[in-house]
Amino acid sequence: MKKQLQELKEASLSAINGADSIEALESLRVKFLGKKGELTAILKQMGKLSEEERPVMGQLANEVRELLTASIDKAHEVLAKKQLSERLERETIDVTIPGTPVIIGKKHPLTAVLDEVKEICVSMGFTVVEGPEVEYSVYNFDKLNTSEGHPARDRQDTFYFTDDDRVLLRTQTSPVQVHVMETQPLPIRIVSPGRVYRKDEVDATHSPMFHQFEGLVVDKGITMGDLKGTLNTIIKRLYGEDTVTRFRPHHFPFTEPSCEVDVQCFECGGKGCRVCKGEGWIELLGAGMVHPKVLEVCGIDSKEYSGFAFGMGVERMAMRRFNISDLRLIYENDLRFLEQF
Ligand code: PHE
Repeated sequence: MKKQLQELKEASLSAINGADSIEALESLRVKFLGKKGELTAILKQMGKLSEEERPVMGQLANEVRELLTASIDKAHEVLAKKQLSERLERETIDVTIPGTPVIIGKKHPLTAVLDEVKEICVSMGFTVVEGPEVEYSVYNFDKLNTSEGHPARDRQDTFYFTDDDRVLLRTQTSPVQVHVMETQPLPIRIVSPGRVYRKDEVDATHSPMFHQFEGLVVDKGITMGDLKGTLNTIIKRLYGEDTVTRFRPHHFPFTEPSCEVDVQCFECGGKGCRVCKGEGWIELLGAGMVHPKVLEVCGIDSKEYSGFAFGMGVERMAMRRFNISDLRLIYENDLRFLEQF
């Protein structure tokens, strides 16, 4: 038995020294020291030994076990270190190699302008709401006091879905006014940005799809003074404190009285130039006091409540803001153009 132990010791030590991976080492641990391993197999013969021999052999077996365990642990450590350094070697990265550039996008000029007005209005207490782009004529026209036969309803100008002209692509964001008045509790302070559609040929200033930004306030005692004060504040925040505005009488079927609001030309200060086409003023938006008929149609008592509304063209604002001379550039999504902003 002593000889067996001696042989096991020699054989296993040389196997351990020859192990070239942690996995190989671990299977040696099982082979020699495991429950069904070779050392256990030898120890099973202890029963056959004499009383005197037993402790001597026991001690020897223990020594062998300790020696093997220590050698395996030692070899494990060495192999682990070697593996780590090999891995570090393999995974070395050259931090001086230039990285793959990440292209950082930015806001489209339309979005930039839209976000800016939205933020101004939200800071003034308005809530942003959205309405459908596919709309009923009733909402786009009738409830906005634009009855059958009104020129704005012409099939030349409007994209209808159905032969009976009942469903269309909204031609303005004003139908959102009606949806809000019909469904939301008073008082109302909302703005609503979105796409609108008209049958226009594409040119430098027209597109069959463009964006509007609608505003609506309904409460007790709202006057034209509130309309002027609110719009002047929004416009000055957008274009600067010293912007000069002009409120000019106009007609919209759903507001009474109605006006258009111009700003004095930034380029020439009102003298007239190429930018304002010699006018000295640049048209910015349409507005007015909500027509009592519209309030009543939406179930609001026009004797108790009044309101004002406004609608501006977002493309126009962006073109003015960024000095863009052709509307088409806004939709072409040519990076050479977009990267300038
Ligand atoms: N909807 C009108 C247009 O498209 C603009 C407008 C909105 C006018 C709200 C008055 C009040 O021209």
